[in-house]
Order: sequence, then C-alpha cells, then structure tokens
Amino acid sequence: MVVFKFVLEKKDSESKARIGYFETIHGRVETPIFMPVGTVGSVKTVTPHELKEIGAQIILGNTYHLHLRPGDDIVNHFGGLHKFINWDKPILTDSGGFQVFSLSELKDLTEDGVTFRSHLDGRKIFLSPEKSIEIQSNLGSDIMMVLDECVPYPCEKSYVERSIELTAMWAKRCKEAKRNFWQALFGIVQGGVYKDLRKISAEQIVEIGFDGYALGGLSVGEENNIMYEITEFTTDYLPEDRPRYLMGVGTPEDILECVERGVDMFDCVMPTRNARNGLLFTSYGKLHIKRQDWKMSDDPIDPHCDCYTCKNFSRGYLRHLYKAGEILALRLNTIHNLHFYISLVKEIRNAIKNGCFKKFKREKLEMFKIGGD
Ligand code: GUN
Ligand code: ZN
Repeated sequence: MVVFKFVLEKKDSESKARIGYFETIHGRVETPIFMPVGTVGSVKTVTPHELKEIGAQIILGNTYHLHLRPGDDIVNHFGGLHKFINWDKPILTDSGGFQVFSLSELKDLTEDGVTFRSHLDGRKIFLSPEKSIEIQSNLGSDIMMVLDECVPYPCEKSYVERSIELTAMWAKRCKEAKRNFWQALFGIVQGGVYKDLRKISAEQIVEIGFDGYALGGLSVGEENNIMYEITEFTTDYLPEDRPRYLMGVGTPEDILECVERGVDMFDCVMPTRNARNGLLFTSYGKLHIKRQDWKMSDDPIDPHCDCYTCKNFSRGYLRHLYKAGEILALRLNTIHNLHFYISLVKEIRNAIKNGCFKKFKREKLEMFKIGGD
C-alpha cells in the first residue's frame, strides 16, 4: 500500500516554480514549503501548539541526534516521534549522514557505513544505510532520507566522483531496507559543484526510484550564484511528479531564487538560530533587536507582520528583554522569525497560483534591500 502521494497542481509559465501538495498519514503539506528544524525533538523555544498557530505544516527531526540522545529505542517505546513530542502533523527526518560529516570527528568511512565518535560523550557509533533506516523506522517519521555522503566545499573532483558512487550504493541499500509501509523515502543527489557529476548522481538516484528527491551538498560554503546554478541545472534531471527538496537552505532570498528554479521544500536553522541571536527578518530586510535605535521604539518588529509578537510587543520591549537575557526574548523572536518564513512560502504559493510569481519575487527582493542593518 502506498500512502505518500505528491500532486503537482500548477507550473508557473515564466519560471520553473510550481505549486502542489503531498499527503502523509499525518496530513497534507502544501508546496513550496518551509520546514522548521526540530533537531532533537523540539523546535527550539516553541511548543507544538505555537508552531501550529504560526502555520507550520511539517517539521524536521534528526536521526543522528535522536539516536545518540535519548535513543531511537526510547522514542519508539513512547510510540514514535509524533507521540513523544506531541506533534501530530508530518515529520521529516534527515538520515544522519550530513550531521556525521559536519558534527563529529570523522573516524572511518567505508562502503559498509561510517564509524564516528558521538559529539556528546565520544563513544563510537556505526551508521550504515540499513542502520539509518532502522533508526528512522523507530522514530516513525513521515518522510525518511537516505544515508548520503555530503562532501565539503571545495572538494577535489576525483573525490566527488567516488563519493557519488557511494551515495548511490547507499541509496539503493536504503530503499531495500525494511521500513513501515506509510513512511516515504527520499533520495539525495550529490555531486558537489560539478555539473557533470550532478547529472550522473541525479540519473543514478532517479533510476533507483524514490518518493521525492533532495539536492544535498549545497549551501556548504560555495557562492550563492554557484548554489543557484547547480540547483537550476539539477532540477532538470528530476521527475516533475515528485517533490524536490533543497536541504539546509536558506535565506529568504535563497528560497525565492530556488523556488524559481523548481524547488518545493526547504529547511534551515536560520530563522530559529538567528532569532536566538536577536537577528530578525522583516519585509524590509534584517534587523538587530539589540540596537540602540530601538530603545524608545513603539513600532512592532515588522508593520506588515501579524504574528503574535508583532501584534503585541514593541521593538523597545523586545530590545529590553533581549538585553536582559530573558528567555521570553528568545521565544518571541523565534515566533516572529518562523512566522516570517512560513508567511513567505505561503505568499509564494499564492503568487504562483495567481500567475505573478516573477513580479512577486522581484518586488520582495527589492523590499528586502530597503532597511537592512
Ligand atoms: N542537510 C543539509 N545538506 C545535507 C546533505 O547534503 N545531506 C543530508 N543528509 N542532509 C543535509
Ligand atoms: Zn512578527
């Protein structure tokens, strides 16, 4: 029985932008979508209730972190991640590949899998394609990701050449591993910044066949234009009738640029992490709440925002909370930034629906440039 279903509703006539939706047993998700990051089973500082009020349709969890702590066996004991964290909408879990490569001292990479030391206590952990799927099955996410190797930037072509072969082999083993019938599985295209390798990787991953396709290994230090170009190039090799997910991206500008290039799904720590650092997104660009300028300001963070924070609190108060190190500052900032991202993708969907995405994008980008500090 197949549960996961993606429906492509409309393609933009002036770009590769599209709108659609996918169905999971935990409900429907409209695309293009932004997924707040809940690495260890919480979107930092906000409750599931608040996430719903903000309009989040799907959140992300991490295999790597949840396997190390509390352990996927424990999450499974509680009936899976949805029940454990009390979130009844869809969840996507990343496979752990990226986190192993970025967080832990890389120990040993073989065809079989990767052995690394936990960033928490230094104990040795082995992750293989089969193990990653087993963990994600225990977590019970709606969308699982295959285990992949995310190469750094820059990276020798000869290394990337071998790496995409490993990523393809691991993808195949992930697909063959046993999982719950209702869990979708997405493949990941790698290939660094080399177009010929991206093409080969896309063809290999599409040949294996997945419910959706991700672009991995981007936004890892390369210039924005390179990221846009590789995204534009790669989406041409992905089937139209499956969702496309650009992993770990990005700024509001990146989202507009990459929707235009055919991407349907995004995740990034930027709105949540920046919020905790006092950096807020507005229609007129970024704003730092700690600035002296806001000391006496009665204005909300963003006059165009109808989030809980903007409807109820002044910049002056939010600045005070932030400077005083109050936990409430982090919560109110996070609510606003997530609302900004989630409203942005909602506006994007409406613009595509109304056939004015290009104009919408141009105007948004112009606005972002006005007030940035
Ligand atoms: N998150 C951001 N980039 C990547 C990637 O290349 N692979 C995986 N698995 N997760 C990511
Ligand atoms: Zn707001």
